[in-house]
Parts: sequence; structure tokens; C-alpha cells
Amino acid sequence: MSNREHEIYDVVGIGFGPSNLSLAIALEEHGASGLKNEISSLFFERQSSFGWHRNMLLPSATMQISFLKDLATFRNPTSSFSFIAYLHEAGRLSQFVNNQDFFPTRQEFHQYLEWAQARVADRIVYGSDVTSIRRSTGAGPELSDSLLLEVADATGRVGRVVEARNVVISTGLVPSMPEGIERDERVWHSSEFLEKYRRTDPGELRRVAVAGAGQSAAEIARFLYDELPHAEVCAVIPSYGYSVADDTPFANQIFDLGAVDDYYFGTEQTREAFWRYHSNTNYSVVDDEVIRDLYRRSYDDDVRGVKRLEILNLTRVTGVKRAGAETLVSLQEGSDGEVRELDFDLLVCATGYNAMEPTDLLGDLDRHCLRDEAGRYRVERDYRIVTAPEMRCGIYLQGGTEHTHGLTSSLLSNIAVRSGEIVDSVVARRAGRNDGSTVLAEVGGDIC
Ligand code: FDA
Ligand code: NAP
Repeated sequence: MSNREHEIYDVVGIGFGPSNLSLAIALEEHGASGLKNEISSLFFERQSSFGWHRNMLLPSATMQISFLKDLATFRNPTSSFSFIAYLHEAGRLSQFVNNQDFFPTRQEFHQYLEWAQARVADRIVYGSDVTSIRRSTGAGPELSDSLLLEVADATGRVGRVVEARNVVISTGLVPSMPEGIERDERVWHSSEFLEKYRRTDPGELRRVAVAGAGQSAAEIARFLYDELPHAEVCAVIPSYGYSVADDTPFANQIFDLGAVDDYYFGTEQTREAFWRYHSNTNYSVVDDEVIRDLYRRSYDDDVRGVKRLEILNLTRVTGVKRAGAETLVSLQEGSDGEVRELDFDLLVCATGYNAMEPTDLLGDLDRHCLRDEAGRYRVERDYRIVTAPEMRCGIYLQGGTEHTHGLTSSLLSNIAVRSGEIVDSVVARRAGRNDGSTVLAEVGGDIC
């Protein structure tokens, strides 16, 4: 253990993707306001440097939200951390405007995120994996005002323990593989795509399969088709054809700030309607432009009398047999259709993600976190897990709150405002604790 074991912070962030970066900025701007006491904070990130889904930074991939939904603007339109401030500093503001496009490339947005994180770098510790959180007091009923976090370095050795009055967990989506299929050097999940692609000899890839009908799958199919002119690309999609992501204005309102309240304070029926009618804004859908790009390639193949892009529709990958260089992929049409096996040099499973799940991280602390009838965490409007009365420290979630706060939970749309709400909550609860009053009403009161 290092001699830093008595460090104590008001807020410790676990994971440093866009959500907690946005929180670090909200804390920075809160401190700079000069009106209130500063909140001490520290963020741990397991990657060795900042990276936002780096393995999917494909050359022509664009953002799926407007650049105005950046790290700060919706909370503070005059923030110096806005995407516009970044463009100004990069000397590209006029060019960006001339381009007349609300959706920058993911590569450009990544540069913006890197620029922003560099400005709060004194509070980020990279190469650090938070491995456990526990109460700072014993396991008994005594009040617990803080939490202890164990942090491992890149070698996996726990070298640091910090104390936190509040933790904000933002560890991101969890890649999901089809049941029973393991990843290896020829079976990849989309979340590891570029890293593995760069380590592979393209000449060895003559027949590749991409499973999934979402944005990741379509982008990877397009990339492989363009990068491997000698190869056949087989898209295995459960639907009849790729479906378009609905980003029309009325539907897009589900990402508005007011929609979080409508969802949070709505009835079960309201929430169910959000999912029933609007899942197609985000899940298993593809941007119009990418669909058209793929169709154009397929059509051009027809014109040339070749077939390099094959769509196996209404089909799912159900298994993989690996033998030497062979990858035999089992494919099933419909749920009770015949299963056939095809041989590929590579299978990319762009089969999506599961929501952030902090249970493992919480370990024994999980007993003090209350759950609803369906076994899901109860979460207050300010994103704080409802905890047993002996817990006075806060556990906040950025992600993993689809069941309470709706579709924006895992997306960027609301991160600026959500981060501001978490800062307000930490400040209000601290003030409440100091003067002995309850602060539930101030921070959005009712619990779900
Ligand atoms: P994110 O996953 O970005 O960050 C979590 C971080 O926590 C990671 O850096 C991880 O290393 C770290 N971590 C995990 N466990 C840890 C531990 N125990 N200790 C320390 N660190 C730990 N949404 C949108 O609104 N618009 C968009 O354009 C896109 N584009 C997009 C592209 C791709 C390829 C994907 C897969 C997803 C998107 N998304 C999206 C959705 C995506 O969830 C969102 O963009 C953000 O990544 C959410 O940011 P977070 O910081 O919450 O998670
Ligand atoms: P996704 O939208 O959840 O899509 C997963 C796809 O895999 C679905 O079509 C699913 O079909 C299919 N699938 C699951 N199991 C399968 C199997 N065994 N065989 C064949 N197909 C199978 O996941 P995603 O595309 O990774 O997108 C996740 C998030 O990242 C979204 O928010 C998306 O917008 C975002 N994203 C953004 C960008 C960008 O900004 N440019 C790029 C990529 C991703 P079923 O639905 O039938 O199960």
C-alpha cells in the first residue's frame, strides 16, 4: 500500500469516458464560480490514456448526436469546454460552419474529448482500475459517511486506497456476445475491432462475416468491404434488411431534457411506451447514410456481375466451431429454422452491449443498495442509488439507469445536464448534512 491511503475526496469517479469527463468539467465550473466551496474530486480510468470507443473509430463514422450536445453546452451555454470553443481554439470554426453539418466525425469528436480531458488532467489517474468499493466503517449498523475504493495499477496490483464521500460510477456498456460463443483471434466483438484488425494480415481475410443489424455492424461491414477489395463480406442480420435509426424531430424529443422527467415520474405504461415506440431511435438500427452506402456497393456489384457483399437476412449466428485456421459459423434462419454451417476467415460479432452493471464493483456494499420488485436498483432523480439509512455517503450512476431515467442513460444526449444535476445534488446534500436538515426535496425528492 502506498502512503497515500488517507486521501479523502468529496467525489471519486470510476471510469473516465465522456460521462465522467462531463462531470469533471461541471465540478471545475462549479469551483470556478467562486460562490460556493470547492468540491474535491479524483477520477480513475483503467485505460492508459483517454479513449472513447477507440476500436470503432472507423474513418467515415459520424456522431449520432448534434455537436451541440457536447460535454457542457446544455448545462452552460457559455462554457469554455464546448465543442465550439474547441473548434475556435483548433482554428476550424469557420470551416466547420461552412461544412453545414450537425454531425462531426467520431474522429473529430474524439479530438475534442481529448482536448477537454487535457484541461482537467490534474484530477484523472489513468491506468488505474477500481477493483472494489466498501464502507469505511465495519459491516455493522453504524452510520457510514464515506467509502473506501481499492485501485489496481496496470499490473493488477492494488497500490492505492482512497476514501470518498461520494462515488460516481460510470464504467460504460458491457460488450455482449451471442450465447456460447467465445472471442479469440478469429472471432471478435465489435468493441475490439480496430485493435484486432490492425494485428491481422488483410491478405488472410478472404471470407469475412459480420453478425448484427445495428450501427456497429453496418459500419464494420462497410469498412471491411472497402478495405478488403479481394474479400467477400457476408452480413448476417436477424431482420429482413437494415432498419433506419429514427432521428426525425418529434421522435428525437425522447432525448430532450424534459423526457427524463416524463420517464422518471411517468407510470409503468408511460415507460413501456417509450421503449415500444422509440427503441428504433437507438437499438438495432442504422443511420440512413450508412444504409445507402452499403446498398450502393451491393448494387454496383450487381452491375459488375460480382457478389462481394452478401446479406444473409432473417438469420442469426448460433454457434462457432474453431479448428486450426477454420472458423465454422452456425447460422439459423428464424427461431426454428434449419441450421447450416459456413466457413469464414473471420467472424465479427457486432451483437451489441448490455447496460452498465455495477453489482460486481459494489460487492458487499450491494446489500445496502435498495432494489425494486424486479430486482433493479432504485435510483433517485439525482441519479443516486437509494441506500439503506446507515449509508450517508452517495453512490451515483452515470449509465445503467434505463429503467428509471430512460433512453438517454447510456447515451451522450444528456451528459452535460446530468453531470450538473449530480454536482447540485452533492452540494445540496453536503449542505443538508452540515446543517442537519434533509435535502431530498431540494435535489428532486421523490424516489423511484
Ligand atoms: P464509456 O464506455 O465511454 O466510458 C467508461 C469508461 O470506464 C471506459 O473508458 C472504461 O475503460 C472505464 N472503466 C470501466 N470499468 C472501470 C473500472 N473498474 N475502473 C476504472 N475505469 C473503468 N452515444 C451517443 O449519444 N452518440 C454517439 O454518437 C454514440 N456513439 C457511439 C459509438 C460507439 C462505437 C459505441 C459503442 C457507443 C456510442 N454511443 C453513442 C453510446 C455510448 O455509450 C456513449 O457514447 C458513451 O460512451 C457513454 O459514455 P460513458 O462515459 O458513460 O461510458
Ligand atoms: P445494437 O444496436 O444493440 O445492435 C446489435 C445487433 O446485433 C442487433 O441487430 C441484434 O439483433 C444483433 N444480434 C444479436 N445477436 C445476434 C446473433 N446471434 N446473430 C446475428 N445478429 C445478432 O448494437 P450496436 O450496433 O453496437 O450499437 C450500440 C450503441 O452504439 C448504439 O447506441 C449505437 O447507436 C452506438 N453506435 C454508434 C456509432 C456511431 O456513433 N457512429 C457506431 C456504432 C455504434 P436483435 O435486435 O434481433 O437481437
